[in-house]
Amino acid sequence: MSRLSSLKRMLHIQSLPFQDRITEASALIATLYRGSGDIHRREFAVDGPCRGSVSNADVRNGTEQVVMFGSNDYLGLSQLAEVKQAALRAVEQFGTSFSGSPVMNGLNPLHTELERKLAALKNTQTSVLLPSGFAANLAWVRALVAEHDYVVADQYGHTSFREAARALPKARRRFFAHNSIPDLERHLSEIRSDHAGTIFVFVEGLYSMHGDLPPLPGILETCERYGALPVVDDAHGTGTLGPTGRGVFEHFGIREVPFIVVGTLSKALGAVGGFVACKKDVALAIRANASSYIFSASLPPATVAAASAAVDALANHPERLERLRRNIRHAANRLHALGVPKDWQSPIFPLEVPANSDVTALVTSVGQGGFFVNGVSFPAVPLEDQRVRVSISSEHTTAQIDALADLLERVMASGTPELDVQEARLA
Ligand SMILES: Cc1ncc(COP(=O)(O)O)c(C=O)c1O
Repeated sequence: MSRLSSLKRMLHIQSLPFQDRITEASALIATLYRGSGDIHRREFAVDGPCRGSVSNADVRNGTEQVVMFGSNDYLGLSQLAEVKQAALRAVEQFGTSFSGSPVMNGLNPLHTELERKLAALKNTQTSVLLPSGFAANLAWVRALVAEHDYVVADQYGHTSFREAARALPKARRRFFAHNSIPDLERHLSEIRSDHAGTIFVFVEGLYSMHGDLPPLPGILETCERYGALPVVDDAHGTGTLGPTGRGVFEHFGIREVPFIVVGTLSKALGAVGGFVACKKDVALAIRANASSYIFSASLPPATVAAASAAVDALANHPERLERLRRNIRHAANRLHALGVPKDWQSPIFPLEVPANSDVTALVTSVGQGGFFVNGVSFPAVPLEDQRVRVSISSEHTTAQIDALADLLERVMASGTPELDVQEARLA
């Protein structure tokens, strides 16, 4: 399927009546996912920090042991004994659910303690827990941004932010070229020429699909000059960046968070859930106005206790972050031949795949060789942005990284298969 024709087909599907839309969309998925129609493709059971048990028709029939290079559990904390013990104790004490929203039923001391620890981690006055990182972005946008405000975001800003910002008039949402301070400045100065009100600027602390960092000092300085409020989504930076893993602000030696840091518990903190770290008055505005806070059940005991123990583990197990850094350095050297700069600093390694190559087939070959990596393929990203994403953890061994690098070099050098989908069904 050519780039143009597949995009044309997606646009065409949007214009159909409901039942035709469903039928056509599932046919497109089946075509793109090689007839299976199963976008998950893998049944996955973790049996250790970095090993996965994958049952997948694409990876030799049946269940195979593969080494996991697709997890966001960068420090292996979801498998740490004290984190698991904390979760078990919380279930014993409180059961499996708090069965209500924080506004209806109040916060449990477990929640309050975790909010305090997250605020301390990010060096803010307080923090607000949300059901997920996705819900955290919905929360601050819906609670704080008014119709007459502007948001200006990096073009690679996360989907959760985009979904939230969609409620704003189109003219009030702008996107600047990835990591470009001049382009950010161009937008801010245009807006400021006739708007004295509030402007929010949204960036990520570590870009989830690209693995690179924002030029944060320059972005904060530019925001300050134009009187804009910076929001930094540090979902992937939390636990992985900075001398003690506090995230992107610590990485750049910036002590004060000027406005908001958004985060998730679902990556290096080994749990699930999200948070907004900020000043007390901003937190109160979120608690009082964000529908994803008010109308959604509070995080369950096991999850909150696990995340709380994981925050403690950041301080108590600095050797994990040291091992992660060593592994990142080693992987950067080994994956240099595939286009990775040798001074790569983040645990996310994006390996470019030529447009029109079949990323699914490529990832399947890697799976057959015993390794689980993520394929980031069309239509989730434009064809020219397709990639294989390798996520490094502190728990990988040097031998595992070496074996993956050898395999990737072989698979990628042998020429990636063409995307094989039928033109015939196109509108
Ligand atoms: C930058 C960013 N923000 C938010 C999220 C959403 O986090 P969660 O999985 O907690 O909903 C993600 C997860 O992919 C992310 O990468």
